[in-house]
Amino acid sequence: MSKLPAKTVNDSAIEGHIYKVFPNDLNAHGTAFGGMIMAKCDRLSLVVAERHSSHVCVTVSVDSIHFMAPAKENDTLIFKVSINRAWNSSMEIGVKVVAENSYTREKRHILSAYFTFVALNDDNKSVQVPQIIAETDEQERRYQQASIRRQARLQTMDALNAYKT
Ligand SMILES: CC(C)(COP(=O)(O)OP(=O)(O)OC[C@H]1O[C@@H](n2cnc3c(N)ncnc32)[C@H](O)[C@@H]1OP(=O)(O)O)[C@@H](O)C(=O)NCCC(=O)NCCS
Repeated sequence: MSKLPAKTVNDSAIEGHIYKVFPNDLNAHGTAFGGMIMAKCDRLSLVVAERHSSHVCVTVSVDSIHFMAPAKENDTLIFKVSINRAWNSSMEIGVKVVAENSYTREKRHILSAYFTFVALNDDNKSVQVPQIIAETDEQERRYQQASIRRQARLQTMDALNAYKT
């Protein structure tokens, strides 16, 4: 268990990063390119992990990226990014992206994803991070569910490693 003072989720959260979709953001299908959105999610999650840990962090795992609906040209993407849980040196960051039509203000949930980051010290070794204080029911739910996802991640990794020669 971390001896560092625990931090609240809001202390590091990004609550509404805005990105306007222009024609150069589109794929051949005429909708927003998924790789562009994923890169932004990774970058914003990194900021949350580094704010929380006060260390340089690296992405160690990305899972459960779900594209629920396409974003279109002229949509405004709104990114909500916050830490769900911290363990020893790793942290799960959750991302939700909503596409808003600026003229009608209609909103569509287009993506949810979970990124795991590890905090590193100056020798590039994993280093302890503060625990989380969940202050709302929603944050508590994410905190509990993060543990189920971590178990699944580590079990899958172990099972696959068993086949390594
Ligand atoms: C991240 C990295 C330093 C971890 O190294 P490691 O030898 O596995 O370190 P540790 O064994 O100390 O594990 C560190 C943490 O990562 C977690 N972890 C490792 N692999 C993981 C995976 N695939 N999924 C989820 N968590 C993982 C461990 O469970 C541990 O968590 P904990 O400290 O909270 O219990 C190493 O894997 C690495 O450098 N990866 C490349 C990172 C990178 O280049 N990212 C892209 C650019 S940012």
